[in-house]
Amino acid sequence: MGITGSRDQEIYDLVGIGFGPSNLSLAIALEEHGASAPQQPVRFQFFERQPSFGWHRNMLLPSTTMQISFLKDLATFRNPLSRFSFVSYLHAKNRLVQFVNNQDFYPTRQEFHQYLEWAADAFRDRVGYGTEVTSVRPVTDGSAPPELLRVEVRTGDGTTRTVTARNVVVSTGLVPRLPQGVTADDRVWHSSEFLRRFRAHDPRDLGSVAVVGAGQSAAEITRFLHDELPHAEVHAIIPSYGYSVADDTPFANQVFDPGAVDAYYFGTEQGREAFWRYHRNTNYSVVDADVIRALYQRVYDEEVRGVRRLHVRNLTRVSEVKRRDNETRVTLCSVLDEHTEELAVDALVFASGYDGLDPARLLGDFDRHFLRDASGRHRVERDYRLVSSTALACGVYLQGGTEHTHGLSSALLSNIAVRSGEIADSVVLRRAERELGHSQPLEEASPVA
Ligand code: FDA
Ligand code: NAP
Repeated sequence: MGITGSRDQEIYDLVGIGFGPSNLSLAIALEEHGASAPQQPVRFQFFERQPSFGWHRNMLLPSTTMQISFLKDLATFRNPLSRFSFVSYLHAKNRLVQFVNNQDFYPTRQEFHQYLEWAADAFRDRVGYGTEVTSVRPVTDGSAPPELLRVEVRTGDGTTRTVTARNVVVSTGLVPRLPQGVTADDRVWHSSEFLRRFRAHDPRDLGSVAVVGAGQSAAEITRFLHDELPHAEVHAIIPSYGYSVADDTPFANQVFDPGAVDAYYFGTEQGREAFWRYHRNTNYSVVDADVIRALYQRVYDEEVRGVRRLHVRNLTRVSEVKRRDNETRVTLCSVLDEHTEELAVDALVFASGYDGLDPARLLGDFDRHFLRDASGRHRVERDYRLVSSTALACGVYLQGGTEHTHGLSSALLSNIAVRSGEIADSVVLRRAERELGHSQPLEEASPVA
């Protein structure tokens, strides 16, 4: 990789911040651009704070499945001939025939994780693992519009280095959200850290557990705890009357099509709001039908046996958590009449969702160069580049954090192949523009396949 001293001399065309599926897909798009235009490869480098590739490892629960078709992989929608497709992976693992015999569009999360690791391995010398990006600032002498960005990175041993890039692509992922006033600790967990926290306990010490939320994470964790803790009382605290199904029927699923991004992006503010309202139930606070049925089956079986230990407490929100030593008391508040009651548990899991990526923390003072809309959200160009108030020859792109501009697929995997291609194209075209001294966008400059 390019970092050798406290200051890497190389100027990268692109530095990717975070190496989850989105930036992995971008690495593939850039690699394939290099193969089709070897005379003008894009110089790139990625940084990932985890010690090795990992995709929501703490939620790799047994038998959980993907929520997208295997064909919505890292590359196929952009380049069906890519060697990084899920089908290529199956072929490489000598499992293609069995996969087809299995007749399932939705692999397990475990298998998809193995696919992602397999693809990531091809870029191991272009990714600095165990390396966190701490800031991005323009390189400026105050006269001309900044052309370069200085990216500060911190390695596991606390050493700080800087690298220089013409563009950064921020893809740091979702940010775990806890209700106000709640702090995570060894008894109060967010779903994003679930398996790590769970494994730190002797299951025999977990006689009563509660899971907060009515989304996919909550339902999967509830099912898991019910399986893994056969002696325990399991409380599911859900704000709705019952779990609601994630709409993945064909017409609704079109909201994740690449074409839906244009519909959303070029719509009016009211249009976007309506789009969001109609189709939020494809993703948020909803659960796959098979998981809902599995949970209901358990409740029913317990009813038949006359032994209840899975308690679905509906129309209920958690309003407070009191902690002392091993004691955790959670205040349950009725959505109907605000009546409250306390529940004592040995562990409390908040599957309370996530906030979107916000690049402001990395940008610091530099963030004031970027425009925001009336609601205070970053303005983003169609090519995922932040809109700046002053002329900047360098670019800050987002993969994620663009739900308000590019729609529902922004935080998901559905569109990453196409989106990565669009970002790679933009970087290549803008570089060609700069090199040729053109002020207008170019029509022909080796777009990414
Ligand atoms: P992701 O969060 O995966 O990666 C971001 C990376 O950036 C992380 O590896 C992080 O360590 C790193 N990072 C953060 N800050 C950094 C810094 N400052 N410096 C360096 N590295 C940094 N969607 C879907 O379409 N289908 C599905 O089946 C699922 N399944 C699913 C399961 C679970 C449990 C969750 C929580 C979410 C999903 N999702 C999903 C949605 C999810 O957002 C999506 O699958 C991807 O994780 C998006 O990939 P990204 O690379 O954008 O983020
Ligand atoms: P989510 O869909 O945002 O759900 C969060 C839930 O927590 C909502 O039901 C919310 O209720 C509830 N909640 C928040 N605060 C609460 C409180 N104080 N009391 C009670 N309930 C509270 O989050 P998620 O389930 O983590 O899903 C996030 C993303 O990950 C989605 O894209 C999902 O599809 C994905 N995911 C995928 C898989 C998989 O692929 N197998 C697994 C897990 C997650 P309100 O709606 O009322 O706020």
